[in-house]
Amino acid sequence: MSKRKILATSALPYANGPIHLGHLVEYIQTDIWTRFQKQRGHECYYICADDTHGTPIMLKADSLGIKPEELIANTYQQHFADFSEFGIVFDNYHSTHSEENREFSSLIYKRLRDGGHISSRSITQAYDPVKEMFLPDRFIKGECPKCGAADQYGDGCEVCGATYSPTDLKNAVSAVSGEKPIEKDSVHYFFNLANFTQMLQNWTTAGHLQAEVSNKLAEWLGGGLQQWDISRDAPYFGFEIPDAPGKYFYVWLDAPIGYMASFKNFCDKTGLNFDEFWAKDSTAELYHFIGKDITYFHALFWPAMLSGANFRTPSAIFVHGFLTVNGEKMSKSRGTFIQARTYLNHLNPEYLRYYFAAKLSAGLDDLDLNFDDFSQRVNSDLVGKVVNIASRCSGFIAKRFENKLSDNCAEPELFQSFIDANEEIAKFYENREFGKAMREIMALADKANQYIDEKKPWLMAKEEGKEAELQQVCSMGINLFRVLIAYLKPVLPLMAANVEEFLNTPLQGWINEMQPLLAHTINEFKPLMTRVDAEKIAAIVADSQENLEKTPAVKAKQFDPIAPEIEYDDFSKIDLRIAKIVKAEHVEGAEKLLKLTLDIGDETRQVFAGIKSAYAPEDLQGKLTVMVANLKPRKMKFGMSEGMVLAAGPGGKDLWVLHPDDGAVAGMRVK
Ligand code: MSP
Ligand code: ZN
Repeated sequence: MSKRKILATSALPYANGPIHLGHLVEYIQTDIWTRFQKQRGHECYYICADDTHGTPIMLKADSLGIKPEELIANTYQQHFADFSEFGIVFDNYHSTHSEENREFSSLIYKRLRDGGHISSRSITQAYDPVKEMFLPDRFIKGECPKCGAADQYGDGCEVCGATYSPTDLKNAVSAVSGEKPIEKDSVHYFFNLANFTQMLQNWTTAGHLQAEVSNKLAEWLGGGLQQWDISRDAPYFGFEIPDAPGKYFYVWLDAPIGYMASFKNFCDKTGLNFDEFWAKDSTAELYHFIGKDITYFHALFWPAMLSGANFRTPSAIFVHGFLTVNGEKMSKSRGTFIQARTYLNHLNPEYLRYYFAAKLSAGLDDLDLNFDDFSQRVNSDLVGKVVNIASRCSGFIAKRFENKLSDNCAEPELFQSFIDANEEIAKFYENREFGKAMREIMALADKANQYIDEKKPWLMAKEEGKEAELQQVCSMGINLFRVLIAYLKPVLPLMAANVEEFLNTPLQGWINEMQPLLAHTINEFKPLMTRVDAEKIAAIVADSQENLEKTPAVKAKQFDPIAPEIEYDDFSKIDLRIAKIVKAEHVEGAEKLLKLTLDIGDETRQVFAGIKSAYAPEDLQGKLTVMVANLKPRKMKFGMSEGMVLAAGPGGKDLWVLHPDDGAVAGMRVK
């Protein structure tokens, strides 16, 4: 097997929102595939980044009262944490708002321009006269021209499904300011995609695409290729076009270039050779994993841009379908629009990795997360079949043989049959037929359980003179279990790490050369995975519905009006101090109150605070807040309250106190 050089990417998630389970289909798929390639011994890199530019990100930052740079920095942290906790490991995770991306975008643009592939002309567009910005279709609202439904977006009606252009909307208004848009002209830059018709006709039929995708593209190509508008006017969060001040690259121009930029950033850190992967004559493999909604950008624009700028084109684009939950589109109101973080708060991430693996194929079919099926599959396959083998055998090995495996292999043929499956399983992984790979692995797990059922070690344990056989059978079981975990390692990296610990030996490389462990001492068995708890799923749905209620609260309008002005003297009388919440307790009989013990440096105060709806006491302990330290103590029904703590937010569940931070210290005066 010769060593391949592989660069794989997932689509770059937008930096204006959290990662949800739909996204995870793709990142888990790519992570499994790249882990598999690495386990096979290939040189493989998994590269990604946040997609940070464009109008929605600019407006979202605006509405939060922060700079786009701040928004994308925060989102980066959240995305990265979510991915990490799902065991998704990138070799590099960068940002499209980076110097590398600015340089490559500019380079590619200039090469396209010099090659005669860029033109410019004036076009007319909807313009918000108050916000002083051009309005993308999604930011124009009005009544549907077909069915009259109110509050529909400029690109289509959610009620009757009609598609139209924003100029067709009745009584259209800007979704940003509520003002009636006017029409305004401005010069735009275009990429002449039609220059690449022949190139694309060849490329899209040369085995780089799944058959369904290739057919779809033939339709698009047959209809003739339009010029692609690659510029946007200020104000826009993005890169200014080098020779066109005040004009910015449209987010989709620099987004795929972000793959290169992230890889360049990685090369600069590791000394890897960028050109080996991206130069026109590169022999490395380049794969993009994407969802079906962004096929047009990746299978038409992107290869044309690369080819026009004298870079290599992708080896393949791997398109997957969309996630539905319980048979329907993810829905905020049904609580099935589930954020990665919400899931992580309740369930083991490897349940989902396995479930997606079991459902994934190489096709574009949508994939359904059905909660009953999810529990059943995880419980029956992972807990009931795989982990069960180890728990059935390890007890005897521990109690009777001081954790030592037998020094011979009881059933070499059975062991070999597990090894012989490796070619087939590798083929399924390689071709992204993960569901088939999982079925093959579970068939082996059945075989291992069958072996144990036949040998009945629990009976041997009670009979005399069966010691040696008992050790051999249980050792055999453990060795088969080890092969299964090696096969599952790309899908269940955390479990595999725990098994390495348990078996006291690493699982390295592919399975073709694996030997049974003989006369080897293992470690104590700790439960590797518990059954899915149905209550946890219910909690995820409930939390997701709650996320929905929280969302609108962020809008400034929802906050209380500003109170009447006060004099500076009034303000200066207030002594504000940083207080550390050392203790927070429920108050018997009080619905809203928590009793807080606050450390303000030199003294401790007791305060009753009405923040119970937002915090459980254990969430508050150790946190910092700001308190009014010189408020006259007040006798309350439950005791004396010696001050007042400050919190921010619209109220109810949305009240925030400070997190401990190096800068703030209990007792410090707040000015
Ligand atoms: N920023 C663009 C991609 C730029 S790539 C140069 C984008 N971002 S996204 O956040 O909307 O989506 C990221 C990926 O997640 C896309 O491949 C998209 O298809 C995928 N998915 C988003 N929702 C999904 C589901 N519900 N189901 C499966 N995949 C989904 O598009
Ligand atoms: Zn309609």
